[in-house]
Amino acid sequence: MTASKPDLYRNLAGQLAALLAGEADRIANAANMAALMYHGLPDLNWAGFYFRQGTELVLGPFQGKPACVRIPIGRGVCGTAAARAATVLVPDVHDFPGHIACDPVSRSELVVPLTEAGEVLGVLDLDSPLPARFDESDKEDCERLAALFVEHHRRYPDA
Ligand code: SME
Repeated sequence: MTASKPDLYRNLAGQLAALLAGEADRIANAANMAALMYHGLPDLNWAGFYFRQGTELVLGPFQGKPACVRIPIGRGVCGTAAARAATVLVPDVHDFPGHIACDPVSRSELVVPLTEAGEVLGVLDLDSPLPARFDESDKEDCERLAALFVEHHRRYPDA
């Protein structure tokens, strides 16, 4: 039987906590989180991170096809989420002006900013080949997973 969506995300949150536990390295943790989400959530063609460096987002650990490396804050879905410090849910990327098509197969996208005390550290980006793959509950659950990652690294500020 397929797990319900709340069960699926509860399970992912438990696995993420276990993967992060005791490990301070941000790149290693982001890599494991990208792999966990890519393989744990159905119908994704890309899952990964961009981290902020000044006025740009720079590609971090991900699963999926190679992607554009630098995105100016304010550009595309990722840059828009970073500029607004708010999650951007795009049911159809063809309707989002300025969407950056790294993989033409992508049809919907969810970008969650990683924020700490109002500062945007980066974004978590999920892409799907299905239109309208993400809904409000995905948004809230992915925000919770992103918050777990940020909170973990707030407690390990050196990595
Ligand atoms: N579509 C994103 C770019 C990143 S890739 O999807 C991996 C955007 O418009 O910002």
